[in-house]
Amino acid sequence: MPTKPKVFVTRILPEAGLALIRAACDTEVWPDALPPAADILRAKLASIDGLVSLLTDKLDAAVLDRAPRLKVVSNFAVGFNNIDVPACTERGIAVGNTPGVLTDATADMAFCLLIAAARRVVEGHQYTLSGQWQTWEPLGHLGQDLAGRTLGIVGMGRIGFALARRCQRGWDMKVLYHDVYKNAHAEAELGAKQVDLPMLLRESDFVSLHTDLNDATRAMIGAAQFRTMKRSAVLINTARGPLIDQRALVEALRSGTIFAAGLDVTDPEPPSMDDPLLQLPNVVIAPHIASATVETRNKMAEICARNVIAGVTGQPLPAWVNPEVAAKRRA
Ligand code: GLV
Repeated sequence: MPTKPKVFVTRILPEAGLALIRAACDTEVWPDALPPAADILRAKLASIDGLVSLLTDKLDAAVLDRAPRLKVVSNFAVGFNNIDVPACTERGIAVGNTPGVLTDATADMAFCLLIAAARRVVEGHQYTLSGQWQTWEPLGHLGQDLAGRTLGIVGMGRIGFALARRCQRGWDMKVLYHDVYKNAHAEAELGAKQVDLPMLLRESDFVSLHTDLNDATRAMIGAAQFRTMKRSAVLINTARGPLIDQRALVEALRSGTIFAAGLDVTDPEPPSMDDPLLQLPNVVIAPHIASATVETRNKMAEICARNVIAGVTGQPLPAWVNPEVAAKRRA
């Protein structure tokens, strides 16, 4: 009987995906809640054909050099900034991700953070739990209205569009967007208007980030950008923490340069317990859970499984980050 390809999965994933991988591959699953340490990952890479990675597994050129048989990296995420994709392509390694299936869940979380930060929900919850609520307060807990306001989407891809659609259809918001590409669909369907980043920041009541993290976008929102935003503005980030200069964010929230922020991602993750961000009343922070619904994680696991199986058997990946590797894939 031919031996099955060897696959290492760096965390326990939903069974919907693991069962598929186990059926097709000789599979080892890292059993701990925390990621395998770098030296353990390197040791595993010496003998595997496929890797199922998470965004907490850093796969750079030096790590990939320890993986002589590796044919595929299947990331359990839509984002892949943890992987040096050009280095994979150079070595003939296919890379897969999980786009599409997490669009609605992530847009829902972005909206949840937007309304929670705008209406000070978490602050109110703490106020209630700490026994400070004594009476109905005409001037207490005042937040920001949503209806008819302006939403600025930075990165009008699938998730940006899904948030914009919720806000435009449900709350009659005007939509501005900043992207290197024109999104004709968003313009036709939602009346969205493409503008440069300075204009988006100046005009928007809500700014939501949906762009990739790379050298061009790292710290794209910093002190200079905060100074141009409205004092009533709410900033939402469900993409990647380092898109924002977090020290500048703390200062902007503390000084009232902007009204509030809603974050599903931070820099680093998790933030340390003495990070001043955690002391501020006007920020809502979730532990990177935008795709965390039962159905979405099951679908992500299935795509991830199909990607790794396609990768180890030399088939085209269903969700292929680097199709340009096709001509030089490892046999
Ligand atoms: C999560 O952050 C993802 O990229 O899927």
